[in-house]
Amino acid sequence: MKFKIYEKTKYTAHPTDEKGKVAYTAEENAIWQELFQRQQKIVQNRACQAYLEGLSLLQLPSDRIPQCDEVSERLRQISNWCVVPVPALISADEFFTLLSQRKFPAASFIRLREEIDYLEEPDIFHEIFGHCPLLTEPVYADFMQEYGKFALQASEEDRHFLARLYWFTVEFGLIHTEEGLRIYGGGILSSKNETIYALEAPHAKRLPFSGLAALRTPYRIDIMQPVYFVIEDFQTLYNLLEHDIAGLIEQARQLGEYPPLFPGNN
Ligand SMILES: [Fe+2]
Repeated sequence: MKFKIYEKTKYTAHPTDEKGKVAYTAEENAIWQELFQRQQKIVQNRACQAYLEGLSLLQLPSDRIPQCDEVSERLRQISNWCVVPVPALISADEFFTLLSQRKFPAASFIRLREEIDYLEEPDIFHEIFGHCPLLTEPVYADFMQEYGKFALQASEEDRHFLARLYWFTVEFGLIHTEEGLRIYGGGILSSKNETIYALEAPHAKRLPFSGLAALRTPYRIDIMQPVYFVIEDFQTLYNLLEHDIAGLIEQARQLGEYPPLFPGNN
């Protein structure tokens, strides 16, 4: 089984040299620059403070695609995580193994210019700009590792539920803060349109986070999300894994999934 998020791709991985570095073209670096400079402005006052602080701590280059090594160097010092380049397709076992070792897998390709605003596959802008800043947050960093450990031991059927948990938190999670609703999900924060839509679209549902509800909610990867779950803090996510995730999966299995809020099912 391929992990759902990495199910299909038309992109191919860039090879790394003997030092683990990827040689990107001027056009690829220019695409990163355009994405980075645009999105850096959009996430202000929309991303949660922990993400924004992480973004600042990582000191990502604005004019070229960073190498995983240079991002890892900073991440290691802050939270003992690192980023490793992987092929565009990766098995669920590989994905969860890496997370369990505090290694975040990053596809090495960057989107084509014709897909600059929207693509289904996770590219390096999504992986590094979307996900890495929050890996500096200590509780979230531990949650990600625990998720990997738990999912690695889980059955294929249970992984189906765990993919939903990942989707509605790591990818598309919102968080309640004193300043108002903010974003922490990397799937949102690497998308220009969804960063605005997730907070402002009047017809999108924003429900208080419930582990059981997230496990029962189907999703589609190719549309703006019709529903988001809002956590109160990152400890909620960690506690979910520490306490009764196996029991919640069992409940979700027995209760069945909610009717989808979109046409067609994923
Ligand atoms: Fe992602």
